[in-house]
Amino acid sequence: MSDQTIDAARRVRDVAETYYDSSDADNFYRTIWGGEDIHVGIYKGPEESIFDASRRTVETMAELLGGLSERTSVLDLGAGYGGSARFLTTSFGCPVACLNVSEIQNDYNRRLNREHGLDSKIDVVHGTFEDVPVPDGSVEVVWSQDAFLHSGDREKVMAEIDRVLKPGGRLVFTDPMQADDCPPGVLQPVYDRIHLDSLGSFAFYRARAGVHGWTEGQSTPMPEQLRNHYDRVRRELLSRYDEMCEVSSKDYVDRMLGGLKNWVNAADQGYLNWGILVFNKPA
Ligand SMILES: C[S@@+](CC[C@H](N)C(=O)[O-])C[C@H]1O[C@@H](n2cnc3c(N)ncnc32)[C@H](O)[C@@H]1O
Repeated sequence: MSDQTIDAARRVRDVAETYYDSSDADNFYRTIWGGEDIHVGIYKGPEESIFDASRRTVETMAELLGGLSERTSVLDLGAGYGGSARFLTTSFGCPVACLNVSEIQNDYNRRLNREHGLDSKIDVVHGTFEDVPVPDGSVEVVWSQDAFLHSGDREKVMAEIDRVLKPGGRLVFTDPMQADDCPPGVLQPVYDRIHLDSLGSFAFYRARAGVHGWTEGQSTPMPEQLRNHYDRVRRELLSRYDEMCEVSSKDYVDRMLGGLKNWVNAADQGYLNWGILVFNKPA
């Protein structure tokens, strides 16, 4: 890979770190999602709470994966506030390592783990998923939610996952993606807001799985849930506009509203996808 490509990937990572470490973003995500999850929810109805729908995503991923127990070591890449780690540890006894580039989020994650008496089961590590600080072949399950969109080098992320998984290990993740048949150029408004020039896609991740020799499990595309979610977050933000302008800057809140509208518009035109992907590394 050229030096220019490495620099560009590093810049993308730095943008994500600066963004998630900002008090505007931290206060927004903690308040709107309720301090546990920061990912697309699976909604049963348009008025369901963001917290409940987001929790359902975690539960559905665990169900699709199956076979989780206290013997299953899990590595959560881009772990946010660690809501999924606490769920996996509490529900199945899994030991979980949370890797995340945002130290602000990591500190809050560690605090919540201590408060729940889970700090001996959940390790929170600062780092990036392009360069995972974990030995080869040491992890049973790699888990990730709505984080790989922030990478400037998703091929490297997939290669890192292949490296750290044990033979027979499994990968489960969600990601806001572009549709496989998305025309070029139409997602520019979405890219601009998250400072990226591409999103992954089911086709991209399946091709990378092919490169690494993984087989596919029960992957489940749910593009409608991405639309439901961004629309639900936008309506929540509008209904709590004054309260949110007290905890995050008005400029941030206004830009967030514009960004959410871009996601909803692109989803309405069929340009986006989201869902759960499951892959198995051969034993
Ligand atoms: C939308 S949030 C999702 C957080 C968490 N997975 C969840 O579902 O609640 C995206 C997360 O990816 C993390 N992230 C972004 N770029 C990263 C990178 N290069 N390496 C590790 N974490 C990263 C952010 O800090 C943030 O926690």
